[in-house]
Amino acid sequence: MSTPDFSPDLDQLVSELTLEEKVALTTGASAWTSLAVERLGIPSITVTDGPHGVRLAQPSAEFNLAAAEPATCFPTAAALGSAWDLDLMERVGSALGVESRALGVAVLLGPGANIKRHALCGRNFEYFSEDPALSGDLAAAFIRGVQSQGVGTSLKHYAANNQETDRMRVSAQIDELTLREIYLASFERAVKGGQPYTIMCSYNRINGTYAAEDRWLLTEVLRDEWGYDGLVVSDWGAARNRAKSLAAGLDWAMPNAPSTNPDVLEAVRSGALSEADLDTSARRVLQMVARTHAAATTPVEVDEDAHHALAREAAAAGTVLLKNDDADGGPLLPLSADALAGAVVVGEFARSPRYQGAGSSLVNATRLDAALDALREAAGTELPFAAGFSVPGPGGKETGADDEALAAEAVELARGAGTVLLFLGLPAVDESESYDRPRLGLPDNQVALLEAVAAVNPNVVVVLSNGSAVSMPWAHRARAIVEVWLGGQAGGSAIADVLTGAVEPGGRLTETIPLRLEDTPAFGNFPGEAHEVRYAEGLLVGYRWYDARAMAVAFPFGHGLGYTTFSYGEVTAHVRGSGADVEIDVTVTVTNTGTRAGSEVVQVYVADPVATVQRPERELKAFAKVRLEPGASHEVSFTLTGRDLAYWHPVLHRWAVEGGVFEIAVGTSSRDLRGSAVVEVEGENLLLPLSMESSFGEFYHHPVAGPLVKPFLEHSPIPIDDPQLSFFFMESQAQTLATFGIPGFDRDTLAQLVETANAGLPT
Ligand code: BGC
Repeated sequence: MSTPDFSPDLDQLVSELTLEEKVALTTGASAWTSLAVERLGIPSITVTDGPHGVRLAQPSAEFNLAAAEPATCFPTAAALGSAWDLDLMERVGSALGVESRALGVAVLLGPGANIKRHALCGRNFEYFSEDPALSGDLAAAFIRGVQSQGVGTSLKHYAANNQETDRMRVSAQIDELTLREIYLASFERAVKGGQPYTIMCSYNRINGTYAAEDRWLLTEVLRDEWGYDGLVVSDWGAARNRAKSLAAGLDWAMPNAPSTNPDVLEAVRSGALSEADLDTSARRVLQMVARTHAAATTPVEVDEDAHHALAREAAAAGTVLLKNDDADGGPLLPLSADALAGAVVVGEFARSPRYQGAGSSLVNATRLDAALDALREAAGTELPFAAGFSVPGPGGKETGADDEALAAEAVELARGAGTVLLFLGLPAVDESESYDRPRLGLPDNQVALLEAVAAVNPNVVVVLSNGSAVSMPWAHRARAIVEVWLGGQAGGSAIADVLTGAVEPGGRLTETIPLRLEDTPAFGNFPGEAHEVRYAEGLLVGYRWYDARAMAVAFPFGHGLGYTTFSYGEVTAHVRGSGADVEIDVTVTVTNTGTRAGSEVVQVYVADPVATVQRPERELKAFAKVRLEPGASHEVSFTLTGRDLAYWHPVLHRWAVEGGVFEIAVGTSSRDLRGSAVVEVEGENLLLPLSMESSFGEFYHHPVAGPLVKPFLEHSPIPIDDPQLSFFFMESQAQTLATFGIPGFDRDTLAQLVETANAGLPT
């Protein structure tokens, strides 16, 4: 196939388009394509979901999610992210780019960088983490990988789309600091580190304004502050008022909505929408086409076997070994050949894998590995199997199966077996786009099965398949717990690799596993009511919440065991520069102290113990995955920047580095810190403007106003030095004190002082 070149002079091309063509270009030509303008040689491109596989709808079935072209179903974001491995993420991204090209897809709709605010969000399996630095870095790596193939990405859902309930209109009520430090920070990091060709705005409202119509969000923050130069596309159907959304910076409305074109034309003609704004958006559509068209039209071969193998590697890398009891004769995992041969397999999910979530991300997998087959192959024998429980069908329909009989059969199998490999998880119907999860725990029939099996055999290994955290009040009943998440089409083989020790479980938790639903940060404020959800926990999302409240959790953020152990040397931290430009070099030497090769995720947390705003106990700011042979050591180094120390200043409305002491802790989880270094940092000048409403204390301690105000006090009838009263006076507004008869200290003097103090401050 020859590739018609499309690398136009964009400005020239825009100037050649008619007004009608420009309007038409800023919406799709179909559910998944852009408009071709043949007269000017402008080709059409195809976009499609994403994120963890290419779901290209068959032409006759635009909206039939199940009728898609076959493609590799890689592990979902929940699993992929748990690998904490940016190189692996780029390799998977690159493979997705190749598969997109092979299917003629120019833009893959992903990754998702929304924060996992609550474990019950039905779409958490499509998101990476509860932490913005981790989520942003993983998303950036995904973007770099896909785009290395010339295929575009669409970073979604921008922003604050943290639940599925009422997602089309709910207003996320979020304070400025929280929005900046948590919910936007994840996107900011992904935008700056990945430069996605497109960003998808979310359906919901933020503080009352639809994301699709929010000029502050789509233009001021995204473009003016972060320097984004790509295109903003609507989530499918999110652009309600087209003229308003164009003015806000929403360039491309999807799917095709030609019926809105007359409104836009009318808005331009009446002056309600400037033609310059329309031109800008039309130009961005052309830029997207120009950036991606060549890749999507240049033939490329997919090596399905290699992609399946990569999916298998990634699934094992994202599998988190939560527990592996050392008592009673040593850990059960990895299983020796003998232990495997004497094991029995229980649980429907071993036979019928749960490997992806429902909704627009549903991939028509090229093949599917079941753990049961993979384990039997590894064992070289027909390991006995019992389903143990039934799984509700589509729509939650009961299967009519007799759960008690299924459990009884499994218990008989487990009795006397060397090890029970027990496959549990959430039914598919629990996890989907468009609605939230009904419960935090596993279904009752599965928990009952676990209890019954554990009562007859203490050697239980629980293998879990679910898209986000489940509560585990039964954790003490299992000697080992392996969290596989939704591991994609090769997840079943990856489980066998991990259980047998052919591959180590490389994952670490990207989200805290809480003890109870009632403990979770957004409990009581999720999913909201009357089309509003209050983010009342503020900054304290995920581990930030549990740490601030010193609460116990089932398994902390960052946790995950391997089959070897690591020791950490002394942490060193050296400060260079000051203020916003400060940099801190952090080093630590990590040694593999076990007998097997393995990987460690070295995590760097920053704490700012004394600050003028509320700050979390500690926050992840950097991480690195290190692979080491037994006995080997490696010095890991990181450079933290001013931004890693900064908070969003609620008065100055910008990032600010406040001087003082910071603690840089390095560890293997948020609750297993292995060492730390304390540094003193010279902060920025954060002098705030004074006003008539400032407290007297703020005047008194101000470097300019203070020396001017103090002489008045010498003749004051007010006993400012009285320890009892001084708090009262310092807290009082200065303008109130100006009426107390202090000689010479009246409102005019104060107004003068305000002016003098503020002269030279940035406005
Ligand atoms: C989803 C998006 C998806 C789009 C197209 C929307 O409903 O929220 O994530 O990319 O549909 O399928």
